[in-house]
Amino acid sequence: MLRTNNCGELRMAHIGAQATLCGWVQTIRDKGGIIWIDLRDRYGVTQLILEEGKTDEKSIQIARQLGREFVVKATGNIAERSAKNDKMPTGDIEIRVSSLQILNTSEVPPFKIEDETDGGDEIRMKYRYLDLRRNIVRKNLELRHKMARFTRNYLDNLDFIEVETPVLIKSTPEGARDFVVPSRMNEGQFYALPQSPQTFKQLLMVAGFDKYYQIVKCFRDEDLRADRQPEFTQIDCEMSFIEQEDILNTFEGLTKHLFKQIKNLDLADFPRMTYAEAMRTYGNDKPDTRFEMKFVELKSNEIVLRTSEKHISNLVGDTFPVFNDAEMVVGICAKNAANYTRKQLDELTEFVKKPQIGAKGLVYVRYNEDGTLKSSVDKFFSEDVLKNWAEKMNAQKGDLMLILSGEANKVRKQLSELRLEMGSQLGLRDKNTFSTLWVIDFPLLDWDEESKRFHAMHHPFTSPKPEDLELLQTNPALVRANAYDLVINGVEVGGGSIRIFDKDLQAKMFALLGFSKEDAESQFGFLMNAFKYGAPPHGGIAFGFDRLCSLFGGADSIRDFIAFPKNNAGRDVMIDSPSVISDEQLKELSILVKKN
Ligand code: AMO
Repeated sequence: MLRTNNCGELRMAHIGAQATLCGWVQTIRDKGGIIWIDLRDRYGVTQLILEEGKTDEKSIQIARQLGREFVVKATGNIAERSAKNDKMPTGDIEIRVSSLQILNTSEVPPFKIEDETDGGDEIRMKYRYLDLRRNIVRKNLELRHKMARFTRNYLDNLDFIEVETPVLIKSTPEGARDFVVPSRMNEGQFYALPQSPQTFKQLLMVAGFDKYYQIVKCFRDEDLRADRQPEFTQIDCEMSFIEQEDILNTFEGLTKHLFKQIKNLDLADFPRMTYAEAMRTYGNDKPDTRFEMKFVELKSNEIVLRTSEKHISNLVGDTFPVFNDAEMVVGICAKNAANYTRKQLDELTEFVKKPQIGAKGLVYVRYNEDGTLKSSVDKFFSEDVLKNWAEKMNAQKGDLMLILSGEANKVRKQLSELRLEMGSQLGLRDKNTFSTLWVIDFPLLDWDEESKRFHAMHHPFTSPKPEDLELLQTNPALVRANAYDLVINGVEVGGGSIRIFDKDLQAKMFALLGFSKEDAESQFGFLMNAFKYGAPPHGGIAFGFDRLCSLFGGADSIRDFIAFPKNNAGRDVMIDSPSVISDEQLKELSILVKKN
């Protein structure tokens, strides 16, 4: 070892002893014959001190050659500091250097390697190895490591075994777009990188493995956002001889275990909500339940999911043309927000009219402290009508009602965005509060207007609820699945389902999804074949590991928890990838070279 100690561990108890530390120069101050150096490594920062007259001349000379991020080795006595720094764990001591050695020089780094850096996103990503030297970023990866370790402990204790599944697999048309890899040995043919190990984990159940998990890379060629990367990690799990209830309990247990071990929080049992209710009350299948602000429908002409009863509420009458034409009029009540200024309300209107949200306008009603109601539609509605709305929306004096109208599905999405925005503006989305929710009973199928066919809402291996099986023939859109998502603070942290394990039902499912018999056979024949040989009932779940880490770390972007992430264009700007490959390589891979 080149060092006796690290830069984070020396304390008052070590005073008088000698130590040798290695690390990077964070700062140097040279004042009147005294030189202080803050030396940093993964564990912390320790102050070195050199004094003309006391420290040997050679070390002083070396110290004067140092620059930021030089790598040095320093030996000296551990002494009590005259000016202590209670912000640093090592702030009571310093090393009185007797010998200093430069292990390597460094160019001036392109940004400050400190918590508050002056480096923008792009430059930090280009020099990610320097960014990773920063405390904040390193701590995120330490958290990730701990999360993986506690996950493994928990699952090991329950007899799960980790099995690796292949990364070069086969492209299938379901789900997101695949990343493909050309095969040199099989001219004109391609592997695909797995979007998840879904079919393999099911085959492991057929093989009798019973309880499987894997902390595994998955690849999806989809549009990127703060919570999506083209390669990301799942805690992927599968169990045999279980029912939905067992999966929910086992993985609620894992989540509670992580919160306890990492944050010392004891979470209460997770509430459950059906997909239909989540859509009706929050307009979202991953509602942020840290705050209420539930939807209240003032008018609805639509048939509510699965209840087949028509909504009969119509509190809006027929005086306001915009509402007359709307399939749905729905609002939220923002508590204590009646004091929103005209400017703030205009900004909210602009917010909902943004193209990404797409509402035509926003109706607001202030329930003033003096009991009067003032709205943006006073011309059309009497105060009595507004009072009815207030009653229905449970609004009190001091509250603000915000109402949107339009086509049911669209208006729900728009109001959901507005609800989240109001939650943020009113400080209701505290990162240190955790609100968990199981969303259950997802629809099995989702109609796609573009391709004019059903798509699997989760994936084609998800089992319909037995009680809805008959509807598969008559009204497939109404069939619910044994599928569930774990939502924390409005983030879809994980999702899974009970699987089909009967080959006939699986074949029927492929047919519903528009696969010809031949296509189903060529793409998923291996699975249906396996189902002929005693497939056990099984089901599972996969957590988005990056998302879980960023939630625990209180960050919005999963990139901060990935050592070498891609940017929003899917590029790694450090290694400059993707990149072109040579004509020889293309030829070898039997890929046509296009010449201009
Ligand atoms: P699903 O597609 O819901 O299910 O994925 C599981 C979880 O993975 C996370 N996730 C992502 N995280 C970061 N970047 C992405 N691009 C990304 N895509 C998904 C989400 C999501 O909840 N095989 C099934 C699971 C199963 O049925 O057992 C599956 O992959 O947190």
